[in-house]
Parts: sequence; C-alpha cells; structure tokens
Amino acid sequence: MDKIRIRGGKTLNGTIEISGAKNAALPLMTAALLTEETLTLTNVPHLADITAMANLLAQHGTDVALDGGAADGGSAGRVLRLTTPTISSTTAPYDLVRKMRASALVLGPLVARCGEARVSLPGGCGIGARPVDLHIKAMEAMGAKVDLDAGYMIATAKGGLKGGRVVFPKVSVGATESALMAASLAKGETEIVNAAREPEVIDLGRCLIAMGAQIEGLGTDRILVQGKTSLHGAEHRIVADRIEAGTYAIAAAITGGDILLKGCSLDLLPAFIDKLREAGVSVEQEGEAIRVTRKGPLVGVDVMTEPYPGFPTDLQAQTMALMTVAEGASMVTETIFENRFMHVPELARMGANINIHGSSAMVRGVKGLRGAPVMATDLRASVSLVLAGLAAQGETLVQRVYHLDRGYERLEAKLAACGADIERVREAD
Ligand code: EPU
Repeated sequence: MDKIRIRGGKTLNGTIEISGAKNAALPLMTAALLTEETLTLTNVPHLADITAMANLLAQHGTDVALDGGAADGGSAGRVLRLTTPTISSTTAPYDLVRKMRASALVLGPLVARCGEARVSLPGGCGIGARPVDLHIKAMEAMGAKVDLDAGYMIATAKGGLKGGRVVFPKVSVGATESALMAASLAKGETEIVNAAREPEVIDLGRCLIAMGAQIEGLGTDRILVQGKTSLHGAEHRIVADRIEAGTYAIAAAITGGDILLKGCSLDLLPAFIDKLREAGVSVEQEGEAIRVTRKGPLVGVDVMTEPYPGFPTDLQAQTMALMTVAEGASMVTETIFENRFMHVPELARMGANINIHGSSAMVRGVKGLRGAPVMATDLRASVSLVLAGLAAQGETLVQRVYHLDRGYERLEAKLAACGADIERVREAD
C-alpha cells in the first residue's frame, strides 16, 4: 500500500489549480440515468470515487466515455460523456455500493425512470452510522413503496412517481439530491422542505435545469420542482471543489505561506473564510482566484460544523490541524457526524494537545509539531495529517493513501509545486 512521506517545516508559496468538486461530480453522474440522451460533464476530477461511480453506472447500462485531461494528469479539460439509452439493470449491488456510500444516489433516478430500483443499503462508515432513511422518506413522499429485504432497499412506483411534499426533519445533502432528481421526472409538483443549500446541490439543480427540469428555490431551504415526462441531454461544467480549496488554504496558513487558489470563489466557503480571517490569515479574492497568506501569528478560534452556509464538516479535521499550532485554545464541535474525530489520536502522536469531550474537542495550541508515522481511516482525517506533516519538524509518513486518492487529485504534485517536500512511497501490497 502506498504511503506519503513529508519532510515538514517548509513555507509554501505558489499557485494551485482547484479541481472540479468530487461531491458535485458524483450526484451529477447519477443524473445521467434520468435521460436516454447524452449528459456531458466537464471539469471532471481524476479520482478513485469517480471511477467507482462510472463502474456502477456502467452496470446500470450507461455508456461511459472519458476524454481530455491536462498533460500533467490533472482535471483541466477532462470530459465525461454519459449515455443511458436504456436501463439494463435496476439493481445497485452490495459489492459496488459498500465501497462508496454515494452509490445510494442512484435510487432516486432509477425509481423515477423505471418505476423500480433495488439498491444495497450502504451501511455505516468510518465517520458514523450514516443511515439512508431520509432518501427512503423522499421516495415514499413521491408515492413509492419501499421495503427493506436482505440488505437492499426495494422501491417500486407502479405507473411512476407522483409529485408530493418532502419534509426533511434534518438537513441532508444526499437526500435532497435524491429528491431533486426523482422529482424532476415525477408527475406534478414536488415541494422539498428543509432542503440542503450546499453549492453541490445547487450545481446538480442547475444541471437538471439544463436537462429540461423546472426547479425553483435552489440555494434556499424550500425547493419546488415541476416534474417533466422526460429530460434531455445537456453539457454542464462541474463547480470548483470548495473542500479542496479550503484544504490548500490551510496548507498556506499552517506553513505561514502564500498560495493562490485558481478557479474558486470566496462565496463557496463563507463561514470557513470568516474563521480563517479570525485566526489571523489573510484571504482575498483576486479575479477568479483566492489568495491565502499568513504573515503574523495564528490565533485559536472556536468552530462548530453546520449545514451550508455554516462551517463545513468536510473541513473540520483540517481546521483542527491548523488549531494545534495556533496561540491559545480553540473548541472544535462536530454536529453533522457522530464519529469524525479519528484524526485526534494521530495528531496527538505528532505532539498536538487535544482533549475530546463528547462532540467537542478542546485544542490547546503547542509551539510546534513533530513528524511521526500516522494513519487515518477517512479522507478528510487523512489530509489533516498531511497538513500537520507540512508544519511539523522532521518526517511524517502517512499510511493508507488510498483514502486521499478518493478525494484529492494529484495531492503531492500540487503541494510540491508550492515548495513542499512531499513524495509518494510506492509499495507492493
Ligand atoms: N442522515 C440521516 N439519514 C439520511 C441521510 C443522512 O440521518 O437518510 C444524516 C447523516 O448520518 C449525517 C447528516 O444526516 O449525520 C448529514 O448527512 P448528509 O446526507 O448531508 O451527507 P451525505 O449526503 O451522505 C455529503 C458528502 C459528505 C459530507 C456531507 C455533509 C457526498 C458524496 N458526500 O454526504 O462528504 O460530509 O454531505 O456535508 O456528497 C467527504 O467528502 O469527505 C464527505 C464525507
């Protein structure tokens, strides 16, 4: 299994091109199941999760064609053409779904187009139980009958889905996306109440509109969809990955550097940017890029994760890494997932001073971190260790790099181009 070796203590300066968002690309790909025409996605990131979703779609009958790509292997120019003339299978099997929870997003499009779907329950994952009850609730509100059998959700809607009122008791990105896609092909009007407002949900909505859907209220907590009998092909550019941008913003902040993040705008990360500034980091929009610079001391700030436009859970681990070397104390509270502190014992191995109290972690800033062998069991936790390694004295060896490959395109190359001493150590399994 590959590892990443970092020799820390270098100040990072340079430019990083931000890729298309993984968490926008995955639901956008499943939208290809809604039409027999071609959905063309551009700015597609080169990630393991994209390949996993392409494999799942192929077994449902989607013809997947990928072309383009920058000479350096980056996403610029990468184009994915997805065509699903007919659905050859309405089953999303356990073997594919268990590898990636986002696979459950095929439920809505399959029921909407075929009146039936059999999708494996994804099960829990490292960061929490992550149930799919809200996805099921949305299908039921649109007239589907959903049974659970042998680990599968079996949804049927004889005669197709009907518009309905979907009221979510808590905000869910995935369930809002499922509801949006299903409602686009349901008969009549669907109202989605307490909808997620994340930029990735808006991006999906925009693509559906380009495919002929009629949707109002994107970016608010109440979305209205007038169902259509069919959708058509479209071309859509995937929104920038705000979590990737936030991660590299912290790379600049934690090393006292200066990085220009190209292709990203401040309004994708309002609460995060506020916190960075409060911590003593300068963040400015420069045309279509964001410049992140830190010259003075880092100051500890409290953060609490919330649905958008609140502070993103997907930047909690990275922000905690930053706080480990800030002056004073900071309280980091996780409200979205119940087990998203797996980076804490690993950061402690590098000299961080963190105590967990329930869903909060008290971080007391230390003078410096020391490199160590570390490993984490999810994507964002793993990258927080890379960030800590950039600031630490000595060598950090991050194990289980496959987590990083699920969500960060060319991580080592992007950081090395800014002066980081970082390399992938390839090892046979
Ligand atoms: N939830 C339920 N029932 C459901 C669905 C969700 O109780 O049916 C709960 C979850 O367990 C969680 C909360 O609702 O406690 C929010 O989950 P949400 O559905 O919003 O998350 P998701 O759609 O499964 C996406 C991202 C995650 C990101 C979350 C929150 C994708 C593919 N994944 O997950 O990304 O953390 O939204 O913003 O879009 C990551 O990229 O590292 C990642 C985990």
